[in-house]
Amino acid sequence: MRYVLALDQGTTSTRAILFDEDLRPVFSAQEEFEQHFPHSGWVEHEADDLWQTSLRTMRGAMEKGGVTAGDVAAIGITNQRETTVIWDRATGKPIHRAIVWQDRRTAEVCEALKEAGHEPMVTERTGLLLDPYFSGTKVKWLLDNVEGAQARAEAGELAFGTIDSWLIWNMTGGKAHVCDATNAARTLLYNIRRGEWDAEICALLDIPMTLLPEVKDCDAEFGSTDVLGGETPILGVAGDQQAATVGQACFEPGMLKSTYGTGCFALLNTGDTLVQSQNRLLGTIAYQFGGKVTYALEGSIFIAGAAVQWLRDGMGMIEDAKETQAMAEAADEGQNVILVPAFTGLGAPHWSPNSRGAIFGLTRNTGPKELARAALQSVGYQTRDLIEAMRNDWDTRALGTVLRVDGGMAFSDWTMQFLADICGAQVDRPEVLETTALGVAWIAGKGAGIYPDAEEFAKGWALDRRFEPAMGKAERSALYQGWSRAVKGTLGY
Ligand code: G3P
Repeated sequence: MRYVLALDQGTTSTRAILFDEDLRPVFSAQEEFEQHFPHSGWVEHEADDLWQTSLRTMRGAMEKGGVTAGDVAAIGITNQRETTVIWDRATGKPIHRAIVWQDRRTAEVCEALKEAGHEPMVTERTGLLLDPYFSGTKVKWLLDNVEGAQARAEAGELAFGTIDSWLIWNMTGGKAHVCDATNAARTLLYNIRRGEWDAEICALLDIPMTLLPEVKDCDAEFGSTDVLGGETPILGVAGDQQAATVGQACFEPGMLKSTYGTGCFALLNTGDTLVQSQNRLLGTIAYQFGGKVTYALEGSIFIAGAAVQWLRDGMGMIEDAKETQAMAEAADEGQNVILVPAFTGLGAPHWSPNSRGAIFGLTRNTGPKELARAALQSVGYQTRDLIEAMRNDWDTRALGTVLRVDGGMAFSDWTMQFLADICGAQVDRPEVLETTALGVAWIAGKGAGIYPDAEEFAKGWALDRRFEPAMGKAERSALYQGWSRAVKGTLGY
């Protein structure tokens, strides 16, 4: 039996999953790691934690299945995007903790760049906006704030990487300083029209280009590693949301997926066309195979599952995220409590880094059940915001009315039904919900010659359950109006 090992380095945990020759997930290992919040709005990871948990989970999954390196045809890597690491090329040591995508410390820098009129040029070239979410201003912050970093970067002593890049550097013992096109597309430094690092944007941010990795196709050869006990090639890399798009087989323009993890990320395949959003969505690379780019429109929401985590860890209201479904079902129908989970600002389509969370509609009778329902509903409302924006950006006749969902929250029938109701769209949940790992496993296994082409792979996509919208139009629009008013209340808080 030959396997493909998919490594999924996410925001709160690292997972490794072995897929068999029939693309079934068979053995896996997972580890959480510490989140560091040094100041309000700051989020950091210890870069070494990301690497060590990767190493342990890859080895752990193999041990579980009694699999040796010789049985692993290829490794695929998928990762939390935008998170930024800079390390010393000679020692391999990071110069600072990784700055996580959720981190808002560069809000002022972004504001100043916007005021100076740079956003249209940056958006035209990168598809992104001047928001602290992306790597570019995080790189600038590190160079400006770590002593001597700017000079060392200029002397070519330092390397920057997104997390794929950092892991591959470690896996290859420092031989490969590379990343894939989907990760590059999230840095704010990569021109997605031309397919190259953008010298003018780098100059604007004072970022020496010697820092930057070589950019490859998602299905390129990224090097090989001996950390599993034999030489194993790395044959697939994609940012986690792009890997999920592939795993959901959204290969046709108009196909749309939405992943509910820590945050929620909806990607609409737009084919060869890079859509310049008029509604503050992002233009990005969906995937790049054999030199051919496929673009996507993306809506990024920072807090989805993290709202439930907050109920558990911040409020101590529940012990397990799964409890929220029964609570939502039992909540008082007469109350309309709205939670805007802007804990780290708001992403698409509002892009308000300074917004903070708010709860509206509290009464004397409001309790944990109503808050749990509000947390689950916030995911549906935020997705509706994105779909509205997509409908305005893209020919609606071409925009599929079906939303393919995955990620941890997709398990919750209640949440998925509300999503279908509030969006007025069919919501399809596939049998395999590990779509992120599946997507990158397929890319790597295709390269190793053990998995089929895209058409065959897409035929294997199987429906678990379809959620049909059941809510009346009047109720849908009244609820959505309430949400929109609540969001307005947090803007510029
Ligand atoms: O853009 C951030 C995204 O890639 C993080 O995904 O699944 O780790 O929350 P996740």
